[in-house]
Amino acid sequence: MRKFLKFLKWTGIAILSILLILYIVIELRQNRIFDAPYPVVRATDDSLVIARGKALVYGPAHCANCHAPKEMEEQVNKGIETPLSGGLVFDLPIGEIYAKNITPDATGIGNMTDAEVARALRYGVRKDGRALFDFMPFHNTSDEDLTAIISYLRSQPAVKHEVPENKMNLVGKAVSAFLLKPAGPVGDVPVAVKRDTSALYGQYLANNVANCRGCHTNRDLMTGAFIGEDYAGGLQFETATDSGTYYLTTPNLTPDEATGRIVGWSQRQFIDRFRTGRLIKQTHMPWGPFGRMSDDELKAIYNFLQTVKPVRNEVKLGLMKK
Ligand code: HEC
Ligand code: HEC
Repeated sequence: MRKFLKFLKWTGIAILSILLILYIVIELRQNRIFDAPYPVVRATDDSLVIARGKALVYGPAHCANCHAPKEMEEQVNKGIETPLSGGLVFDLPIGEIYAKNITPDATGIGNMTDAEVARALRYGVRKDGRALFDFMPFHNTSDEDLTAIISYLRSQPAVKHEVPENKMNLVGKAVSAFLLKPAGPVGDVPVAVKRDTSALYGQYLANNVANCRGCHTNRDLMTGAFIGEDYAGGLQFETATDSGTYYLTTPNLTPDEATGRIVGWSQRQFIDRFRTGRLIKQTHMPWGPFGRMSDDELKAIYNFLQTVKPVRNEVKLGLMKK
C-alpha cells in the first residue's frame, strides 16, 4: 500500500511537471518571429492610382468591412468613406482577434513602411515578425493592386486609435505556439493582371481579392487552414442574438448539378443577385461592397465559377438555430 501511494505521488508530480513545462513552452513560443521578403511596392500620390485603391478597399477587397468601426457597418455597406481605424473583434474558438487600425496614424500603419504593409498582406508577417492569422486573401494580389490599396491607405486622414492586443485563450496560445505559420503566396505573384471578363481575371478576383474562396470553402476555425474542396461551401458563421445562437453556412458555388447553388443561374441573374444585395440580415457576405463591382468584374467571376471542379456537397441554406 505504502509503495502504491508513493508511486501515485511520483506520477502526480511527473504529470504536473510535464504540464508546467508545456505551459512554459507555450508561453515562450507566443511571440515566434518569422521572416519573409519585402515586396517591391511603393505608394504614390497619383490620383488615378488612389482612386483605384479606394474602389478596391470599398469594393471587391472589402477592407472597410473589417477595418472600419463596427458602428459604421451601414455606411460601409453604402460605400461611404469611413475611418479604417480598426477595433472590430472576431470571437473565435482560439480567442478574440482584433482588426487593426490601418490609417496613417502612429497607432495604425504610420510607423510601417509601404514594404512592411505589403509584406503583412502578401506574407502574413507583421512589422515585428509575428504571424498574422489568415483573415485576408491578399497573398497573390498583384503588385499593381497592392500599390493602389496602400496608396489609398496613405491618403486617408490619420485616426488615433489604440487597438487592443489579441486575447488568446489557452487553446489559442497552443495553436499560436505550435501550429500558426504565416500564409503566403502560391506560385508567382503577378506584377499586374489584365482586367477583362475572362475566367482568368475572375479567378484572380475570387481567390486573391474578394475572398470568395476563403468563405465558400470549409476551413478549420482553429488555424484557418483550408479543409474542404475549393468552392464547395460548408463554412459555418455564427451569430449570437437575444433569442439564441444562429448560424449560416456558405453555399456550394461549384457547378455540381445536384448541390451547386448557382447551377442554372444565367450570367444576368448572377449579376442581378449582386445588385439586389443582402437578403438575410445576419449574413457575413459583404453584399454592399460586392454590389459595387462592375458588370465586367461580376461577369469574370461568373465565368470563373463555371470552370471550378464540380463537388457534390449538400449545404443547408438559410438561417439555422444551434
Ligand atoms: C475578413 C476581415 C478582413 C478583411 C476583409 C481585411 N482585413 Fe486586414 N486584418 C483583419 C484582421 C482580423 C487583422 C489582424 C489579424 C491578426 O491579428 O492576426 C488584420 C490585419 C491587417 C494588417 C496588419 C496590421 C499590423 O499591424 O500588422 C493590415 C496592414 C491590414 N489588415 C490591411 C488590410 C487591407 C488593406 C485590407 C483590404 C485590402 C484588409 N486588411 C482586409 C481583418 C480583415
Ligand atoms: C465573409 C464570407 C463571404 C465572402 C467573402 C463571400 N461570401 Fe458568398 N456567402 C456567404 C454566406 C454566409 C452566404 C449565405 C447567406 C447569404 O445568402 O447571404 C453566401 C451566399 C452566397 C451566394 C448565394 C446567394 C443566394 O441568394 O442564395 C452566392 C451566389 C455567393 N455567396 C457568391 C459569392 C461570391 C461570388 C463571392 C466573392 C465575390 C462571395 N460569395 C464571397 C459568405 C461569404
